[in-house]
Amino acid sequence: MRAQLLLTLPLAGLAFACVREHLASPLLQHAHRRKYAKRADVFPPVLTTEEQILVNSFDNNTISQWSAYYALGEHIAGHNKSQAQWTADRWSENGFTAGLAEYVVFLSYPLSKSLTLTLPDGSTTDFALEEARLEEDITTTYPDRVPTFHGYSFTGNASAEFVYVGRGQKVDFDRLIALGVPLEGKIALAKYGGPFRGLKVKNSQDYGLIGTLIFTDPGDDGNITEANGYLAYPDGPARNPTSVQRGSVAFLSTYPGDPTTPGYPSREDSPRSDRFVNIPHIPSIPISQLDATPLLQALDGHGTSGVEVNRTRWVGALNATYSTGPAPGAVVSMTNVNNETYSPIWNAIGYINGTNADETIIIGNHRDAWIVGGAGDPNSGSAIMIELSKAFGALLETGWKPRRNIVLGSWDGEEYGLIGSTEWVEEYIPWLTETAVTYLNIDVGVSGSVPDLSATPELHTIATEIAKKIIWPVDGVYNQTWYDRWYEFTEGEIGVLGSGSDYTSFLHRGISALDVGAGGSPTDPIWHYHSDYDSYHWMSTFGDPGFLYHKAMGQYLALLAYHMATDEIIPFDVPNFTTELHAYYEELEEVIAGADGDLDTSELHDAIDTFEIAANQVKALETQAVQSGDADLIKVVNHKYRDFSRGFTSQGGLPAREFYRHVITAPGLDTGYAPVTFPGITEATQGGNLTLAAEWVTKTANGILVAAAILAT
Ligand SMILES: *[C@@H]1O[C@H](CO)[C@@H](O)[C@H](O)[C@H]1NC(C)=O
Ligand SMILES: *[C@@H]1O[C@H](CO)[C@@H](O)[C@H](O)[C@H]1NC(C)=O
Ligand SMILES: *[C@@H]1O[C@H](CO)[C@@H](O)[C@H](O)[C@H]1NC(C)=O
Ligand SMILES: *[C@@H]1O[C@H](CO)[C@@H](O)[C@H](O)[C@H]1NC(C)=O
Ligand SMILES: *[C@@H]1O[C@H](CO)[C@@H](O)[C@H](O)[C@H]1NC(C)=O
Ligand SMILES: *[C@@H]1O[C@H](CO)[C@@H](O)[C@H](O)[C@H]1NC(C)=O
Ligand SMILES: *[C@@H]1O[C@H](CO)[C@@H](O)[C@H](O)[C@H]1NC(C)=O
Ligand SMILES: *[C@@H]1O[C@H](CO)[C@@H](O)[C@H](O)[C@H]1NC(C)=O
Ligand SMILES: *[C@@H]1O[C@H](CO)[C@@H](O)[C@H](O)[C@H]1NC(C)=O
Ligand SMILES: *[C@@H]1O[C@H](CO)[C@@H](O)[C@H](O)[C@H]1NC(C)=O
Ligand SMILES: *[C@@H]1O[C@H](CO)[C@@H](O)[C@H](O)[C@H]1NC(C)=O
Repeated sequence: MRAQLLLTLPLAGLAFACVREHLASPLLQHAHRRKYAKRADVFPPVLTTEEQILVNSFDNNTISQWSAYYALGEHIAGHNKSQAQWTADRWSENGFTAGLAEYVVFLSYPLSKSLTLTLPDGSTTDFALEEARLEEDITTTYPDRVPTFHGYSFTGNASAEFVYVGRGQKVDFDRLIALGVPLEGKIALAKYGGPFRGLKVKNSQDYGLIGTLIFTDPGDDGNITEANGYLAYPDGPARNPTSVQRGSVAFLSTYPGDPTTPGYPSREDSPRSDRFVNIPHIPSIPISQLDATPLLQALDGHGTSGVEVNRTRWVGALNATYSTGPAPGAVVSMTNVNNETYSPIWNAIGYINGTNADETIIIGNHRDAWIVGGAGDPNSGSAIMIELSKAFGALLETGWKPRRNIVLGSWDGEEYGLIGSTEWVEEYIPWLTETAVTYLNIDVGVSGSVPDLSATPELHTIATEIAKKIIWPVDGVYNQTWYDRWYEFTEGEIGVLGSGSDYTSFLHRGISALDVGAGGSPTDPIWHYHSDYDSYHWMSTFGDPGFLYHKAMGQYLALLAYHMATDEIIPFDVPNFTTELHAYYEELEEVIAGADGDLDTSELHDAIDTFEIAANQVKALETQAVQSGDADLIKVVNHKYRDFSRGFTSQGGLPAREFYRHVITAPGLDTGYAPVTFPGITEATQGGNLTLAAEWVTKTANGILVAAAILAT
């Protein structure tokens, strides 16, 4: 519900990452988190010579060409090696050493599917399950366009009465049980939005349903709707009613990466484990608002009406009462057949060696898309990455050398479950543990006019300082910075990282991380996420007609990467981490106050105090190092900064999810995208197991103490 969300909520965590949708949970309001002040800065920003070389190198015309390259050829995961090679070739031309890293992973491609509704009177409707081909938008007419489907959905049939389950979170199913709605053996009709789609299917399966249909609801489009008089794409900015959101139904909050090779890189001959641990064993199909309408209407007058269900966002904007059903005799029959196969995928990797061989920064974006287009998700980021390599090439020509290694990653297989990045991290983890300073992610670089930012706290200061150096033009007016535009819509709150894009594997191995991209304002055209209409045509006519947001976003990422790679002292602000820990602690106290029983968190509190002392010490050491110019001392500080967040990872992982190790932040088990802070403690408390919560107070405190010990002097 991004449009209304932008109006009403501080937008912490509203990243426009790729497997990620728009979040609308009140959980996103962090009453305790310090917000940045709107600040009257020098305008226009003043840049150094090297910063100017980088910024001036960005050209919206070439970015538009790169966008067209990526978005005019089919490139679903594992399908277009030439795009990977092309990416590596452009990076090579710009002075990077580049090549491909191949993995052989489990994937599934669509073969066939069907959906039929039979009403109690015996009449039937067959749904085409296709998006309209538009002559204005060439890629929607390609013979090899990707059918609508869910990646990793189960091959199978289901035929049963059906029930509407809202957004398909556990709380929704629990509400249905409380209302006496029969679930066992039924098919779920769920609305997109909120939790990651794979969890909607997982919950359906766990509650005994036998299939899941997931639809897009115009109620999540804010004011830019046909009902409000806006024309639909391609004639106007409203959603095309045939649009369908494809996407993966893997169980993202439990395990990203190839589901058959948990913890190790996937090779042709790798041992494979049972995939059904992490993907569904009931079929699912994504459908359009158009196809959802008769299904919802069939339930009108049966079960409990949407208003009486009385749950936030249960009722959408289609012409129906959003009743639970089931309607006796109203049956859907669904079939779904995917080609389940092992396929090579190709990451393009480029690098420039720094003078400090033991310090590395990584900048990554995925390349694979669910559709031929993907001009927003993810290839706005891919086009920006090519232009960024060109900017660094321009700097290299002046004789500049980075202090730290710079690695570029163009990941494949992200859409199925962050596969390319996860397999790569699993392969290079010893080297990354030794040298990685930070991972900067750009997924959907541009799908609207509002920059958005999530990051681990030590990056907050540098991320906002760089934002003040970039001009963000809106409607041809060059009067504000990236920071000003961001501030206008976020009120100065940087998001906490959950999951939904390629930073996940880095973060959960204890690597500092940041995720950036631009999404829609309440008045921006509707972006068709994972639909054929996320195309070059949409981008160049509605999303970013002059490619000027692309340009400004690229300038931002380049300057940020430049400072991370070049500044004598890694530009981390560790005292910011303390501030955030205090805020998360206060939020935890509120969760505990709402729980049955008592939990002693003094150990955690003490650990945060110890961290605070260490963070202040290292800041003082930094000042001393800079003032003395002592190269050894500078190295000591840099290595403390590089290493401290490794301490936050817990061996063995969070409860019931070994992959996710970070004790400070993780995606919610039942959200998949949205973050939970102090996840071990918070989720055990919410789940009513205070014994487990107490264990996690200790484990979390220990993680913070290890990080503090690395920082301490
Ligand atoms: C791969 O992508 C390129 C560039 O978009 C495109 O020209 C080519 O047709 C694609 N290849 C296949 C096999 O789809
Ligand atoms: C699923 O349905 C299709 C089409 O109705 C049919 O051809 C197929 O045999 C069914 N498969 C199973 C396992 O029932
Ligand atoms: C959306 O429409 C409502 C009334 O239809 C109006 O009150 C509100 O200001 C509009 N919001 C925006 C951002 O245009
Ligand atoms: C809906 O729930 C809220 C609290 O969750 C309650 O205050 C309100 O009375 C309920 N409305 C109806 C119509 O049941
Ligand atoms: C809504 O559906 C009802 C029948 O269920 C129909 O009579 C009415 O015309 C529809 N309204 C719109 C705006 O389509
Ligand atoms: C399934 O994919 C494999 C390649 O991974 C291909 O060889 C095979 O032809 C495909 N099967 C069908 C039915 O398309
Ligand atoms: C970069 O450094 C690595 C090891 O530090 C070395 O193996 C590699 O050859 C270097 N590459 C280039 C292009 O200098
Ligand atoms: C920039 O100019 C626009 C249009 O003139 C105006 O609405 C906006 O307030 C200005 N923004 C700033 C930060 O000055
Ligand atoms: C690049 O921006 C200029 C305005 O600064 C505009 O005239 C031009 O059309 C843009 N190029 C593209 C490809 O959109
Ligand atoms: C981070 O630290 C800076 C000063 O170093 C401060 O201005 C800012 O408010 C801090 N932010 C947070 C979120 O603590
Ligand atoms: C609560 O957690 C403890 C410790 O991990 C575990 O032994 C116990 O089985 C859990 N209790 C329940 C009811 O899940």
